[in-house]
Amino acid sequence: MYRLSYALINNDILKDNVKEITTKYNDYKYYIGVVKNNAYNHGINIVNSLIQGGCNYLATSSLEEALNVRHENALIPILVLEPINLEYMDLVIKNNITITIDSLDYLQKLIKLNLKKKIKVHFKLDVGMNRLGFKDKKELDKAYKLINEDNNLELEGIFSHFATNGYYDIYYDQSLNKIKELLKDIDLSKIPILHFDRSNTLVSHPKIPFATGVRLGIIMYGFNGSVKKDNSFKGKLRAIKRDWYLKKNNISRTIDTNDLKLKTAFTLYSRVISVRKVIKGERVGYNASYEVEEDAYIATVALGYADGVTKQFGKVIINDKSYPIVSDSMDMIMVLVDKSVKVDDEVEIFGDKIKVKDVCKRLKINSYHLFNQITNRVPRIHIEGNKKTEIKY
Ligand SMILES: Cc1ncc(COP(=O)(O)O)c(C=O)c1O
Repeated sequence: MYRLSYALINNDILKDNVKEITTKYNDYKYYIGVVKNNAYNHGINIVNSLIQGGCNYLATSSLEEALNVRHENALIPILVLEPINLEYMDLVIKNNITITIDSLDYLQKLIKLNLKKKIKVHFKLDVGMNRLGFKDKKELDKAYKLINEDNNLELEGIFSHFATNGYYDIYYDQSLNKIKELLKDIDLSKIPILHFDRSNTLVSHPKIPFATGVRLGIIMYGFNGSVKKDNSFKGKLRAIKRDWYLKKNNISRTIDTNDLKLKTAFTLYSRVISVRKVIKGERVGYNASYEVEEDAYIATVALGYADGVTKQFGKVIINDKSYPIVSDSMDMIMVLVDKSVKVDDEVEIFGDKIKVKDVCKRLKINSYHLFNQITNRVPRIHIEGNKKTEIKY
């Protein structure tokens, strides 16, 4: 690591999170860890920690990502959640990848290839996202018939994706009804993996009786989708309004709180590379955008928007003290500090003393976006027991 900016990823925390989730929600046979985009940008080498924690299947968004996971683990089953270009079925077979069938057309083309090799497939249902999957029951039934007649393809699973958590709306209920309607004429006892819920729908609804699997995404990375009880006057008023709305629209109740103990495992650090004195009235950064209000010091920190970090992050921690970010550029941010700050001091951007959810609030984004916006220019250092491993992308 030549440039002293890095994301510290604690693989042990991720393992413990998965253990905690799979122990509490122990009524499933398949725990599918979603590791899209290098495991929500935590770094692909965490997959073995997730497996040790209890994931017995993994899911990626593309074949490229699946091959990266296969490189880390030769045996774990891997589902690619999006359709794969049919030209690359040789790679799918060679690396034992499970594929998603999202339409009758795709299935027919795949059957036509007559690959003469076993391929495991999952059908994807579209129950409200209007993104991918079978929407029409007749098409699904025809696909089910075709796949049963084919000797190469094995229908191992069926899944769908909920558009909402159903806390304040009717869409979760509607989607679940649509799942039931679509699957009405399919013998589910013949299909081992039926997975519909994602992190937040898992914790906020009773188990779907016929589900045998669940896809764990953001929850593994430390985010509990439960709605916190807000005992303020406004909070209580909101709860009353919500109850009234749920009753009026006959929406099933959600499970609001749970006792899952989860931690985030991603902390972003950098270093001070320069400190300079500034006097009242001087300007800092591009467009002279920040005016110094009284004599102070500016610390320059070796991370910028090319790493995914901007002035809007608001503040950083240096030597246990919080300081405001006053300017940003491609590779550096400038922080208004006092004279205690020195070149080479460590800077926390977020993850430990600055909570991920607080940065998200300031940026008006959610944790998915925050993790995914830290670019691969930032090396990842993984902690596992006493071992530290650096990964450069
Ligand atoms: C199809 C599918 N399943 C599961 C997930 C995981 O979602 P979450 O992180 O909300 O659990 C995603 C995330 O994008 C997804 O697209």
